[in-house]
Amino acid sequence: MQYRHLGSSGLEVSLLSFGSWVTFGPQLKDDLVLDCLSAARDAGVNFFDNAEAYAGGESERIMGHAFAELGWPRHSYVVSTKLFWGLEDGVVNMKNTLNAKYLHHAIDGSLERFGLDFVDLLFCHRPDPNTPVEETVWTMSDIIASGKALYWGTSEWSADEIRAAWDVAERHHLRKPVMEQPQYNMLWRRRVEVEYARLCDDTGLGLTVWSPLASGLLSGKYIDGLPEDSRAALPGYEWLRATMSDPDRNAAMRELKGVADGLGCTMSQLALAWCARNPRVSSVITGASRVSQVKENMEALDVLPLLTDDALNHIDRVTKPLSR
Ligand SMILES: NC(=O)c1ccc[n+]([C@@H]2O[C@H](COP(=O)([O-])OP(=O)(O)OC[C@H]3O[C@@H](n4cnc5c(N)ncnc54)[C@H](OP(=O)(O)O)[C@@H]3O)[C@@H](O)[C@H]2O)c1
Repeated sequence: MQYRHLGSSGLEVSLLSFGSWVTFGPQLKDDLVLDCLSAARDAGVNFFDNAEAYAGGESERIMGHAFAELGWPRHSYVVSTKLFWGLEDGVVNMKNTLNAKYLHHAIDGSLERFGLDFVDLLFCHRPDPNTPVEETVWTMSDIIASGKALYWGTSEWSADEIRAAWDVAERHHLRKPVMEQPQYNMLWRRRVEVEYARLCDDTGLGLTVWSPLASGLLSGKYIDGLPEDSRAALPGYEWLRATMSDPDRNAAMRELKGVADGLGCTMSQLALAWCARNPRVSSVITGASRVSQVKENMEALDVLPLLTDDALNHIDRVTKPLSR
């Protein structure tokens, strides 16, 4: 495993990390969770990503129980959660907000579900246009000061929104956002490569990127149709099916398979290495519905030295015309 600093912070995170969206709860429970977490940790993963909203709070509960059962010392891993969407329907101030009342309530709920005293990383899961950014920055800074989280950051905020938060923190000597969590993969590039470029250089923001396989598309598993045991076949994920069965995308995936075959790796390993090659990326958050995927994915960094200019240009020719 390789480790990178989380942006300009002192914290080192594994370049490949492991997250629980979709999988913990609906696909992974009990021993399977323990086996996947262990396989990731055996490969050197020290960062595990989660969110309040995943599986309606169950994902935090499952991960927390697993940590306890595995008996990992708390100082040996970095765990995150993210707040914004909330869990309580029909209660004012408890949904789709980053106001002070919700954030203080929500961090306590997350810690209780995890069974932990603190999370290492706390993300504002989406921007909140209805709360003054000053209020959110003060509150995140207060949560850090309380010891319930060590670093705070954002997820899918625009560069302007992050810079506004950073400026508030700078002006008032508050804790600054340290990291952002955007989507990044061969088919989703613009935000990381264009929009954030200047911001990362100016502020030292670190990126922990999500959906590096575009929910599985870049593994090539949808080339011949929709496998029954895949994410796009899960109830509630019908919205993925049009993308996964798109003929142009799957033609590109066929060609990408040729690139991976030529390098002697799998398509998933190629796609993960492609994200990791970007020096602005502190960690590539992988997801997996079974242990074999974790094991395969954790070998992706072996592909980094094979990503020559020729290989990268070939990948660009195949995927850039389809990318956003
Ligand atoms: N901040 C945010 O808003 C946000 C949003 C989304 C995700 N995230 C974080 O990012 C993490 C990763 O996102 P993601 O799960 O969408 O990542 P992804 O890598 O794009 O997709 C992971 C899925 O692809 C399939 N897969 C993985 N490895 C494979 C392999 N080697 N061969 C074949 N199929 C493979 C599995 O699905 P199946 O086997 O079920 O098909 C797996 O669950 C999440 O767990 C979460 O922590 C954050």
